[in-house]
Amino acid sequence: MSGPDLSVKIGAMAMNNPVMVASGIFGYGDEFRGLADYGELGALVLKTITREPRLGNPPACRTAETPAGIVNAIGLENVGLDAFLAEKLPAAMEYETNIVASIAGETPEEFADCARALDQTEVAAIELNISCPNVKKGGMAFGVDPEASAEVVAAVRAAAAKPIVAKLTPNVTDISSVAVACETAGADGVSLTNTFSAMVVDVERRCPLLAAGMGGLSGPAIRPAAVYRVYQVAQAVAIPVVGMGGIWNANDALEFILAGASAVAVGTVLYADPAAGNRVLAGIREYLDRHGLAKVSELVGSVSIPHTSG
Ligand SMILES: Cc1cc2nc3c(=O)[nH]c(=O)nc-3n(C[C@H](O)[C@H](O)[C@H](O)COP(=O)(O)O)c2cc1C
Repeated sequence: MSGPDLSVKIGAMAMNNPVMVASGIFGYGDEFRGLADYGELGALVLKTITREPRLGNPPACRTAETPAGIVNAIGLENVGLDAFLAEKLPAAMEYETNIVASIAGETPEEFADCARALDQTEVAAIELNISCPNVKKGGMAFGVDPEASAEVVAAVRAAAAKPIVAKLTPNVTDISSVAVACETAGADGVSLTNTFSAMVVDVERRCPLLAAGMGGLSGPAIRPAAVYRVYQVAQAVAIPVVGMGGIWNANDALEFILAGASAVAVGTVLYADPAAGNRVLAGIREYLDRHGLAKVSELVGSVSIPHTSG
């Protein structure tokens, strides 16, 4: 099919186009099967797994709706590495596109153990969730510290040859320094942002609405803040950046691309529109046609910041 060249590479992972599904929303792919043509998208990132299964936070209240997004505190509920390899991954591999596994752990060794096992599978890449705000150990505790982030990336780099993408938290003063540390330690790409630390208070009960107390905000509320962080990180690293945070349509995705993202991921929007990724992809294609552009890569980071005086 002729048309603009939408292809993107992250390390050795070749994608037909820059639209991905973000980790967590899509689970392992089971619940969304048949709701849209996910094989059309560039890559699907599955729910984060850990070496051992996790029950996650108490199921009583794990999500809260806010005016322009949701606050979630799932707590990395997952089936664990063994069940993932035996049951979930083979089913997910039926999608005819790149499948990316997402991993987390309480120590760099746990990340490495998962990566070593995944290196023997057909996954196209491994995303390192060093940014989950909803677990007491590991998760964001790595992602807020450049050195700790680099330790995780280095441990995984030593254990696996697959492309590695480090998923960054916005809950830091200087996200670029974390991105640079991950790049130096051997990451092939960085993805951002994970959710912003947040809290919703039940005024009548005078306690947090979420059982875990706090959670992470996603959806349109975070989009401008996420776009700015993508802009900052893209200025600081040479590896590809995957941008996400409140993407609802092609215009939103193009904001991230112009700010420096080589690829984008849709997350929370899938709850409202399971075919959002396909819609975003069609819109990017239409934009390229309308502007007479041959390649999406021509757009990456091409936002021009006007000179300001003073
Ligand atoms: C319910 C829910 C579960 C999530 N689970 C994960 C996860 O397991 N691993 C991860 O890296 N990110 C997880 N995220 C974060 C998303 O992948 C994404 O980074 C974030 O929500 C921002 O994008 P969005 O506003 O488009 O959703 C989760 C987000 C939500 C809303």
